[in-house]
Amino acid sequence: MTTRPMRKIAFQNLKGGTGKTTSAVTLASLLSARGYKVLLVDMDAQGNVKEHFGITHPYTMFDLLVEEVPVDSCLVAARDGLHCLISDATLAACESILMSRPRREEALSRALEGLDGYDFVLVDCPPSLSMLNQNALVFADELIIPVSMDFLALLGANQVMEHLELIERYFDKTIRLVGVLPTFYDRRTRISKEIVEALQERYGERVWPPIRIDTKIPQAPSARKTIDTFKRTSRGTQDYEAICDVLLGTARPAAETPA
Ligand SMILES: Nc1ncnc2c1ncn2[C@@H]1O[C@H](COP(=O)(O)OP(=O)(O)OP(=O)(O)O)[C@@H](O)[C@H]1O
Ligand SMILES: [Mg+2]
Repeated sequence: MTTRPMRKIAFQNLKGGTGKTTSAVTLASLLSARGYKVLLVDMDAQGNVKEHFGITHPYTMFDLLVEEVPVDSCLVAARDGLHCLISDATLAACESILMSRPRREEALSRALEGLDGYDFVLVDCPPSLSMLNQNALVFADELIIPVSMDFLALLGANQVMEHLELIERYFDKTIRLVGVLPTFYDRRTRISKEIVEALQERYGERVWPPIRIDTKIPQAPSARKTIDTFKRTSRGTQDYEAICDVLLGTARPAAETPA
């Protein structure tokens, strides 16, 4: 029996509110709609993943990482082809509990060891330099950095890259930065142009086409939906569909700016 290659992708930016969760949940939804098997992991105690799909489950990431409940018992089906490992505020306690354990940065990798049957594992991360983020990078092979159109988000992206280099060195692994994703893009503003240019200067071809500001995006979670199922014709859906093509390698990752 052959195991299929599983792409393990973390979404990080140490700045808060840059579109990490929105990007992870929307891409998870779009990829599963295209027939891929997806696992979406919520590594943030804010627990926003479950709100986008209107799901609950007795076992959360705390049970998986701290209580060592087997992963199969923690999986919750959100859609056809989309499973989630959800979080809630209990995950906040994880950090201090794991601290006293050996190989604490490898708790997520250990918990998901032997997992197969998925084409993608997407890991939504918190906006902090934390043990949970270290665990996500130790697990992942690829990284996507959503960057909102402000200077601090740009700094947050650079901080992720410094952290990534440390993890690569100490854990003797390579994590590929596949995409820097401009979010909250507004072509009418000078700051959007400046931030995208600064990103291109540092990250070159890895800067992806931007996700435009879309007022429908923050409305979607209150309907327990992701933007693509909330409003199919929205800008947000169009832009994330384009990113899905780039991720799958069916479109060039040139940072063209949509009108
Ligand atoms: N392109 C967009 N246009 C308008 N609003 C957006 C866009 N992307 C995300 N949002 C909204 O901005 C807020 C922050 O987005 P999101 O939760 O995805 O960021 P985050 O990086 O995960 O935040 P945190 O660091 O707190 O985890 C949410 O209310 C979301 O609905
Ligand atoms: Mg988030």
